[in-house]
Order: sequence, then structure tokens, then C-alpha cells
Amino acid sequence: RPRVFSGIQPTADSFHLGNYLGAVRHWVALQDSHDAFYCVVDLHAITAGHDPKVLKQRSRVAAAQLLAVGIDPERSTLFVQSQVAEHSQLAWVLGCITGFGEASRMTQFKDKAQKQGSERASVGLFTYPVLMAADILLYQADAVPVGEDQRQHLELSRDLAQRFNTTFGPTFTVPAPHIVKDTAKITDLQDPTSKMSKSSSSPAGIIDLLDDPARSAKKIRSAVTDTGREIVFDAVGKPGIANLLSIYSALSGRGIDDLVAAYDGKGYGDLKKDLAEVVREALTPIQERTRTYLDDPAQLDKLLAQGAEKARVVAAATLRATYDRIGFFPPL
Ligand code: TYM
Repeated sequence: RPRVFSGIQPTADSFHLGNYLGAVRHWVALQDSHDAFYCVVDLHAITAGHDPKVLKQRSRVAAAQLLAVGIDPERSTLFVQSQVAEHSQLAWVLGCITGFGEASRMTQFKDKAQKQGSERASVGLFTYPVLMAADILLYQADAVPVGEDQRQHLELSRDLAQRFNTTFGPTFTVPAPHIVKDTAKITDLQDPTSKMSKSSSSPAGIIDLLDDPARSAKKIRSAVTDTGREIVFDAVGKPGIANLLSIYSALSGRGIDDLVAAYDGKGYGDLKKDLAEVVREALTPIQERTRTYLDDPAQLDKLLAQGAEKARVVAAATLRATYDRIGFFPPL
């Protein structure tokens, strides 16, 4: 069976609808056809400053949400990145074949470094995409389900795999992006030309998976739309309505054309009211299951440790092959 790998950062108290619809929902679907590895990437979550008191809890909440949306630890390997040391070890090796200029061109780095002030941005933020390549290559992943914002990072992972293979001999599978167009970029409700983002959207622009229904309904009601009246899907001319339709379609399973036909002659208010209900129906069971997993943290931690042990078997084999290729002694 082909392999998939993907990761998500525990940098907020909840995933948002962009994470869910753009990535995590596809992770669930891929479990049937693929040998799947899914990771809460806490190493990535310390690159821009963090609070040690909340990080571990956020990792648990992230894992609980993944279980709640349907990641099945019997079928998939679900784990926390820092529990598998091979990620850091391979990242060092890959860092040594990454060009400084190549890493400098990563747009997410440039954006974040600019926001923090380039003197203050950490070296970890700079090498973040190299660690991400290590995550993927360690598992010999064929495909990586992510949102559009990760495309450039994936391109780097592919380049590094190819470069290593050419220089030292075939070692890594070259991973392909798995980006589902309809939900690849869910946008900010207050700024529908920008992506919905944990780090840069305002709270009103984001619907969190764990938001209570009244709160998400209010955010949907206040979502920015254009001054027209007609409900049509036009990502350029009507980005706000297009985003609401994309969310509606993904959560309800109804096609965009079907929705546009159903709302013919109705107003934005009707669409928003119904969407709030669709969101409530989709998220309430996820929220209940998330709470159940969080009620028993010892059991959750145990499940994650078991996942890390399974992951390590694969990761260790790749690291051993890599060390051999580059002339290191075998890892003990
Ligand atoms: P992160 O934690 O920012 O986001 C997790 C996933 O959610 C997707 N996503 C979106 N999709 C559609 N619309 C949006 N508005 C939206 N916002 C976020 C992201 O594309 C991502 O798939 N660097 C990664 C984590 C990572 C990783 C990896 C991913 C680390 N190692 C290896 C894949 C493979 C990140 O920061 O994702």
C-alpha cells in the first residue's frame, strides 16, 4: 500500500476549519487506501516562541481532535513528533544539503521573519522547512495531504530527496503533494482574500473546530461579503460568498452547483443562517468526542506513545540507511 505522511502544529487551542477542510479531513479518507502516518509536530511549534505550560496540553488537544474526526489508531500511526528522535537527526543531515539561498526563498519564512523582525526571528524558523522534509522523507511517503500554503515546502522536500538520492545513492521516496483543489485554501471570514490562519487571522475571521455553535453562528453572520445580492460562485469577484459556499459544500457533501441552484432568489442572510446550522451539525459530534478523549489524558498519552513506537520502527530504518550512505557509523 502507498504511504502517506502529514503533520499539524499544536500552536493553538483548536484546529480551525481551514486545517480541517484543507487537510485533516483528507487524512481520514486516505486511511482506507494508504499506510498512513499522522503527526502532531511539536518540534515545529517552538520556532516562534511558545509557553511550555501550554504546549503539552495543546499537543493533547490536537491529538484528541484528530481522533475525534476519525483518525483511527488501529489503521493509522498517530504520534507526537518530539517522541521520535529520528526527526531531528535526519533534519541535521538534510540541512547540510540545503542551500542557504534556497531556504531564504521560502515565502512563509520571509513573511514570519518580517513580522517578527529579522534580527529576532530564530534559526529554527529558518530551518523549519528542512525539518518538515525530514518528517516526510523518514517515512518514505508517496503522498502528503496538505493545504495550498504548504506547496512550496513540499517542493523543497522533493528537491532534497532527489538531491540526496543523486549525490549519495537512492535512499528516499520522492513525495507528491496531495492538495484537493476545492478546499485547498479556506479564507478568513473577515478578509476573504487571505487564508484562514492560526497566526494571522483575527478571532472573528476563524471558525475553530471547538468553537461553540452560537459563537460560530455569530462569526458566520458577520462574515464579510460583497454588496451584491446574488449567490453565485465567483472566487475573484465574490470571494466572501465563494468561501462560504466552499465551506458549506465540504461540510454538507452537496455540490457547489446544487447549492447555487438551491439559493437562487434567496439572500446572503439565508445562506449564512443555513451554513451556521450545517457547521453546528458537523462540529457538535466532533466536539463531544474531543472532550471524551481529553477526559482521560493518561490513556491518550499511552496511545500516543504506542504510535511513536510504531513510527520509530520505520523512521529508524530510514535513518540507518541514510547514515550508511553518508559514511556515518550506524545509529545505536
Ligand atoms: P499547519 O499546522 O499550519 O496546518 C495544518 C494543515 O492545515 C492546512 N491549512 C489549510 N488548508 C486550507 N485552508 C486553510 N486556510 C488552511 N490553513 C492551514 C495546512 O496546509 C496543513 O496541511 N508545516 C505544516 C506542518 C508540517 C507538515 C509536515 C505537513 C510539519 N511537518 C510534514 C505535512 C508534512 C504546518 O505548519 O501546518
